[in-house]
Amino acid sequence: MSSYAGKAGLVTGAGSGIGRASALEFARRGAVIAVLDLDEDSARRTVELIAKEGGQAEAVAVDIGDEESVQQAVAQVVSTFGGLDFALNNAGLASHGRVLTEMSLQEWERVLRVNVIGTWLCMKYELPAMQQRGGGAIVNVASNGGLYAISGAPAYVAGKHGVVGLSKVAAVDHGPDGIRVNALCPSVTETAMFDGVVASTGAHIIEQQTAVTPLRRLATPEEVAAAAVWLCSPDASYITGTALSVDGGRRA
Ligand SMILES: NC(=O)c1ccc[n+]([C@@H]2O[C@H](COP(=O)([O-])OP(=O)(O)OC[C@H]3O[C@@H](n4cnc5c(N)ncnc54)[C@H](O)[C@@H]3O)[C@@H](O)[C@H]2O)c1
Repeated sequence: MSSYAGKAGLVTGAGSGIGRASALEFARRGAVIAVLDLDEDSARRTVELIAKEGGQAEAVAVDIGDEESVQQAVAQVVSTFGGLDFALNNAGLASHGRVLTEMSLQEWERVLRVNVIGTWLCMKYELPAMQQRGGGAIVNVASNGGLYAISGAPAYVAGKHGVVGLSKVAAVDHGPDGIRVNALCPSVTETAMFDGVVASTGAHIIEQQTAVTPLRRLATPEEVAAAAVWLCSPDASYITGTALSVDGGRRA
């Protein structure tokens, strides 16, 4: 895979799971990385892990659901690194275990605020920085729930379909700027988010999800990160507007 030497990027939700694994992998490949997260301590911990491996990173606190916070965070990244070459908009929230008639407006707004509006806000401020640079690459982390239904997760699925649609529109509108935009659609991945699902649903969910996956195992965060890092790299230079499944064959 191409080197990221001389490239600067940001990863949201990089204090945990897929975001942390991706930030580490971008840094191993030579990028300087801004580690953005709502949880500053976990962002700092990711920076420490990157530094331990000899990489360069900076922790930046952000709430992607808050416009001012996103604007400030992206401005801080651009001023620290001198520009922005790529972004992995990964931060997101889970919401499951209720059919839509049982859900409150408050829950819908909580989930869509982060998963859809948050992803849009990130791109709103990343794209001008990339335009200034003369090009760039954005990957938005959706889900297999961005491609088909997950029973009992209406707000999550609607939001992740939104992320896929938003990514496609951005790819069409900003292709002429030399900016590629893709969505990444993982299935169940062993992270804190899935631990939360197991805690509320029961351990049987692990067996159930494994059984419906042709590879008969769940994804590791590193496997999803590998796809994100590839999609942001020049090796994927003619790929834009796609929604890439990383799902052990589930969509097949
Ligand atoms: N784990 C899975 O099974 C799975 C499957 C498909 C898609 N995804 C998607 O992958 C992405 C990463 O999930 P993960 O499993 O690594 O989750 P995770 O819970 O391990 O990490 C998510 C991170 O996002 C941060 N975050 C949450 N809200 C934020 C906000 N408003 N602003 C900034 N940061 C915020 C959290 O602090 C956390 O560090 C999410 O978008 C999720 O929907 C996960």
